[in-house]
Amino acid sequence: MRKNPPEKVSQDKVIFDVSEIEPLLSGPSLHLKPWEPVSVKLKTGETMLIREAKKEEAPLLLSYLQEVMKVDHDFYDIVGARVYAEVLGWYRNRLKDPYTLLGLIDGKLAGFANGRLMNKDINISLHTMAFKRGARVGAIMYYAKTFYAFEILGNKEFWATYESYNGWKRWGVGMAQPSYPWPDYQHELGGARVYYITKEYWDAVVREYIEDYISTKFEKPVSEELLKKNEKLILPEKVEV
Ligand SMILES: CC(C)(COP(=O)(O)OP(=O)(O)OC[C@H]1O[C@@H](n2cnc3c(N)ncnc32)[C@H](O)[C@@H]1OP(=O)(O)O)[C@@H](O)C(=O)NCCC(=O)NCCS
Repeated sequence: MRKNPPEKVSQDKVIFDVSEIEPLLSGPSLHLKPWEPVSVKLKTGETMLIREAKKEEAPLLLSYLQEVMKVDHDFYDIVGARVYAEVLGWYRNRLKDPYTLLGLIDGKLAGFANGRLMNKDINISLHTMAFKRGARVGAIMYYAKTFYAFEILGNKEFWATYESYNGWKRWGVGMAQPSYPWPDYQHELGGARVYYITKEYWDAVVREYIEDYISTKFEKPVSEELLKKNEKLILPEKVEV
């Protein structure tokens, strides 16, 4: 858009440095408290470590997600494609206050969960994925992010939605989550219903979900040995879901 200036100006060009534009495009951070790694025993007998993803691991994760989005069942394609954009958004600083958790078994990627903060009170759940099926890895990863929201970040609400039947069954039904009126409230993932958990509801029942539903629990602090084993992210050779 162009319009003539209302007064004489001594310079007819105002030039910006891109580093001056960046703070306007990416906004200030809420400086989220870190997720301290936890270990969890799976029903297979394996130990999974849940730790934060490191930014330098994003390109490796993206290469795997490119394969995941080719899977044509159980909604791995749409979720894989959306997670690809979210990981890239985190990597390129185009997602507001994101967090990214990985579930690793001896360093090998087994689960993923991410979200972002709309503000200090509302935590938006983005996605959860199990790359190893049948071990309830996905159920555990989702619990990890609700735990992070309420117990560590001190959020008041957690907003989720579901693309897949498995996701809806695991948490919509598994956690008996209520939903806000639709279409008045729409989740940022495609305008679907917002299912939510409040801090009161978390305290009353959902905190017990991991023991009730998955019959396991988080253990921390974790040993140096376990951290070391899971320091380097290893991708499964193939996507087998
Ligand atoms: C939703 C999701 C994270 C749940 O992961 P999970 O809790 O580890 O559970 P699984 O998907 O492995 O298994 C779900 C159930 O189907 C069974 N199942 C389905 N396909 C299976 C497979 N290929 N191998 C083994 N079990 C399978 C499991 O035994 C399990 O039964 P259970 O309820 O008795 O435990 C996972 O299905 C996933 O990543 N889906 C694609 C992405 C997605 O939909 N994300 C959520 C968006 S809403």
